[in-house]
Amino acid sequence: MTTADLGFTHRFVPSSGAAGITLLLLHGTGGNEDDLIPLGRELLPGAALLSPRGRILENGMPRFFRRLAEGVFDQEDLKRQTAELARFIDGASRKYGIENDRIVAVGYSNGANIAASLLLTHPDVLAGAALFRPMVPFRPQTPPKLTDVPVLLAAGRSDGIVPAEQTSALAEILRVAGADVSIHWHAGGHELGQDDLTSASNWLARWGGAR
Ligand code: MLT
Repeated sequence: MTTADLGFTHRFVPSSGAAGITLLLLHGTGGNEDDLIPLGRELLPGAALLSPRGRILENGMPRFFRRLAEGVFDQEDLKRQTAELARFIDGASRKYGIENDRIVAVGYSNGANIAASLLLTHPDVLAGAALFRPMVPFRPQTPPKLTDVPVLLAAGRSDGIVPAEQTSALAEILRVAGADVSIHWHAGGHELGQDDLTSASNWLARWGGAR
C-alpha cells in the first residue's frame, strides 16, 4: 500500500520471515516507490521493504535531490534532502515497528547517490548499503565514522553516465571512513544485469550484519 505521510510518498512491505533487516529501496531518476519492490523481494526474500519516492521533480520525473546538469549536483538541495530522508527513516522505523532492524539501503543511480550521501552525512542510520551505479555525491571534509559498515558498489565498466574513476573515488572515500567496501564490475553500462543482482544477493546473504 502507498501512503503519503512522514514527508515522503512511500510503500512499506512488512517482513514475511527473514526478520531483522529492512531494505530501504531508493529508485533512480523517473522511478517511484513501486520500482524496486520486485528487486528487494529477489535480493532478500521475506525482508521488510521500505520504499520512498523521491520528492524532487525534474521534468515530471521523481528524483531524490536536484541536479544542475548530468552528474552535477545541487549540493544545498542534496544536503537538505538527505536530512529529510534520514528523518523519514527515523519516523518510519517507529511507525512500522522496525526500530531494532538493521536498515540496509539498496539504491540505483540517483537512489544510490542519495544513499551514499546518507552514509557520509548520517553514518549511524544505515547498517549497510548496496549501491548500483553510484557516483561521488560530494567529498566530505572529514571522514565520517563508518567502521566496518559493509558497502557494495555495483558499477558498469562501460557506463556512459558514471565513469569508472567515480566508482574508485567513492570506494576510496568510503574505505578511508572505515567501511568494508566490495566492488562488483558489470561488463555493460548503466542498466543492471543479472550478474549485478546475483552479486548483491550473495553480498546480502554473506553479510549477516556485523552491526
Ligand atoms: C541519474 O540519472 O539519476 C544520474 O545518473 C545520477 C544522479 O543524477 O543522481
